Amino acid sequence: MRFFVDTADTGAIADLAATGLLDGVTTNPSLILKSGRQFLDVVREICALVDGPVSAEVVALDHATMMKEADVLRKIAANVCIKVPLTVDGLKTCKALTSEGTSVNVTLCFSANQALLAAKAGATFISPFVGRLDDNGFDGMELISDIRLIYDNYAFETEILVASVRTPVHVLAAAKIGADVLTAPPAVIHALFNHVLTDKGLAGFEADWQKSGQSIL
Ligand code: G3P
Repeated sequence: MRFFVDTADTGAIADLAATGLLDGVTTNPSLILKSGRQFLDVVREICALVDGPVSAEVVALDHATMMKEADVLRKIAANVCIKVPLTVDGLKTCKALTSEGTSVNVTLCFSANQALLAAKAGATFISPFVGRLDDNGFDGMELISDIRLIYDNYAFETEILVASVRTPVHVLAAAKIGADVLTAPPAVIHALFNHVLTDKGLAGFEADWQKSGQSIL
């Protein structure tokens, strides 16, 4: 499973890129607002930090204007992936862009039927929002299982990009189901490193090494 980070914080992206674990980045208008920076500047900077896909979202609601916005965004760098909403106009834009060889991430997916439509429109990635489904009393991970089954039934090449990830439990569940990609905030990715027994074990080894009086260097 590939790891994308869901942020517009370029410092956090650079930090994670240094671990070698980062396969791409996703942003959205809310994350851009949070960064307090200019959208195009942020996308340009992120694209220089990572080799993998960088999702940049159109904000128009109609197909014609989405295409114009996508044209600006895809000129920024070769690894820009255009993010479109799961609407009729969004999927028209998805079809047009992928036919031209531009990669597209279809976002705001909350049902398996929506994911089926996105795959039929040639989406590169489908982004089901598991956290927001859980928040509203639905089972987000059940949606991931359903999409996996449907995509495998018909050998769709659209990749399942699990989004709105809130906890390491979501990460584990997505990996067990066989999701292709997961995008999570930096804090969730950092939390994956943690285990109380790792900390305890390290403290024990460190203390015993001090007692031994030895040195490697
Ligand atoms: O970027 C899309 C998605 O990951 C948003 O997550 O936490 O705002 O539901 P969240």
